[in-house]
Amino acid sequence: LKVYVSRDATALALGADATANAIAAEARARGLAAEIVRTGSRGMFWVEPLVEIATPARRVAYGPVRATDVPALFDAGFATGSAHALKLGAVDEIPFFSKQDRLTFARVGITDPLSVADYVAQGGFRGLAQALSMAPANIVAAVTDSGLRGRGGAAFPTGIKWKTVHDTDAMQKYIVCNADEGDSGTFSDRMLMEGDPLCLIEGMTIAGLAVGATQGYIYLRSEYPHAHRALDAAIANAYAAGYLGADIRNSARRFDLEVRLGAGAYICGEETSLLDSLEGKRGQVRFKPPLPAVKGLFGQPTVINNVISFASVPIILDKGAAFYRDYGIGRSRGTLPIQLAGNLKHTGLVESAFGVTLRELLYDYGGGSYSGRPIRTVQVGGPLGAYLPESQFDTPIDYEAFAAIGAMLGHGGIVAFDDSVDMFEQARYAMEFCAVESCGKCTPCRIGSTRGVEVLDRIRAGIERDKNFALLKDLCETLRFGSLCALGGLTPDPVRSALEHFPEDFAVRA
Ligand code: NAI
Ligand code: SF4
Repeated sequence: LKVYVSRDATALALGADATANAIAAEARARGLAAEIVRTGSRGMFWVEPLVEIATPARRVAYGPVRATDVPALFDAGFATGSAHALKLGAVDEIPFFSKQDRLTFARVGITDPLSVADYVAQGGFRGLAQALSMAPANIVAAVTDSGLRGRGGAAFPTGIKWKTVHDTDAMQKYIVCNADEGDSGTFSDRMLMEGDPLCLIEGMTIAGLAVGATQGYIYLRSEYPHAHRALDAAIANAYAAGYLGADIRNSARRFDLEVRLGAGAYICGEETSLLDSLEGKRGQVRFKPPLPAVKGLFGQPTVINNVISFASVPIILDKGAAFYRDYGIGRSRGTLPIQLAGNLKHTGLVESAFGVTLRELLYDYGGGSYSGRPIRTVQVGGPLGAYLPESQFDTPIDYEAFAAIGAMLGHGGIVAFDDSVDMFEQARYAMEFCAVESCGKCTPCRIGSTRGVEVLDRIRAGIERDKNFALLKDLCETLRFGSLCALGGLTPDPVRSALEHFPEDFAVRA
C-alpha cells in the first residue's frame, strides 16, 4: 500500500499529520504494509487533507480525509482505490486541475520534495545538465528568448537583468532569491519551496552558471518554518548528490547556497532593503541607481529574483526557450502560478498560461463565492493592488492589460470579496498598512500614510468632506510621485480604485 499525503503547511493546518498517522495505524491494525510518502500540495485547499493511493494504473485521490474518516475508508477498500463518498478520482481529471498548465509546479504534489532521486525521475536537473554544457552568455540568451519576466511583481525581463550581471566585471557575484513573500493572498513561493525546493535550487544554480556567481542566498521570511526545514534538507541532499558545491556533477563549476531568515518586516521584500537585511543591517530601502545588478549584495553585482522566477528557469533550459514562450499572450509569456484566496468556494493554486480571465479564475476555477453571495470586488497583486469591480472581471491575466486599467498583477494573488465588504474600510486599511510597514526613510510614506488614515476618518465622520476629499487626492499624488519605493508609491492604488468604483461606501456613517 503506497499512500501520498501532503506535508504542505495548508494541509498540515487542516490536519494532514493526523490523517497520515491514522492511515499508518489503521494499516498496521489490518496487517497491511503501508508506505506513506509526504508530498507537496496539489493546490486544491478545499479537499485537503488530500490522500492519494497508488493503484497499478494511476493514483486515486480522496479528500478531504480527516483522521476519523480513515477506518471507514479502509472498510470501503480504499487501499485498492474503490468507491467512497470522498473519492475524487485521478487528480489530473479533476476539472480544477486538468485545465491548468503545470510547468513550474509540474512536480509539486507528486514527488517527495526532499528526494533527489524522485526529482531526477520526474525530469529534475535536466535543465542544469543542459546549462552545464552551454556558454554562460547562451544561458542568458535562452532566458531572454523565453520571455520570462520577474514573477515577484515588477515583471522586469529576467534575461535582461541577468545580462546586466553577466556583463559587469567583478571578483565575486551573488545570486539572491527573494523568498520574503509578504503580499496578502499569496502563497505560491511557499508552496514551491515546501513542495519542490530542488526546483528552486536548480534554478538558482543555473543563474549562477549564467552570470558567473558562485554563492547564492535564499532570503526566507521567518513566518515560513516548514519551507525553512524543506529548503535546508533539500540543500543538504543536493550537496550530498553532487548538485551543489565545489564540482557540480564533475563539471569543475562551483555553486554554494544557503538560507538566511528575515525577521518579519514587509519592506524587506523590497530588493534593496532585503540586501541591507542580508548584510546584517536594519532593512531600509536604498537609492537606485546603482541597481543591485551592478552593485548589490556587499556592493557586488547581484541577481535578485523571486522564487517563482528562478523556479521557472529549469524547464526553460530543459525544453527550450520557444517551448516556454509558446504559452501566454502579448508580452506576458509562459505561465503564472495564480493564487486564489478570500471568499471563494475553491481556493488554492492555479498555474495557467497568461490570458486566462479573472472571471474564469473566479467562477470556473474558484467556483464563485464561498458565502454564496455575489462577488463584489477582487484585489489583485497584494495589499497595495487595486480593487476591481465586476465590470472588469473579463480582464485577461496579462501585465499590460492590468496596467491599462490602472491595476497590477503583482505576484499573482487574487483575493475575492462578496457584497458584504465595506470598501471604505478596505481603503483605510491600505493607508494603515503603509503606516505600519513604512521603513521611514521618506516623508510622503512615513507621514503621509498616517495623515491618510486621519483624512479618511474625517470623510466618514462627515467633517469638511469636500476639503478632505481634495486633501486625500493630493496626498495620494504625493505618495505616488514622491515615495522612494513601491510601498509608498502603490498605497494610493487601493484607495483610488475603491473611491472610483465604490463611491457609495464613502458616505457619512456615525
Ligand atoms: P522595479 O520596477 O524598480 O524593479 C524591477 C526589477 O528590475 C528590480 O529587480 C530591478 O533591480 C531590476 N532592474 C531594473 N532595470 C534593470 C536593468 N537595466 N538591469 C538589470 N536589472 C534591472 O520594481 P520593484 O520596486 O523592485 O518591485 C515592485 C513590485 O514588487 C511591485 O510591482 C509589486 O507588485 C511587487 N511586490 C511584491 C511583493 C511580494 O510579496 N512578492 C510584495 C510587495 C510588492
Ligand atoms: Fe521606506 Fe516608504 Fe519611502 Fe519605501 S516609500 S523607502 S517604505 S518610507
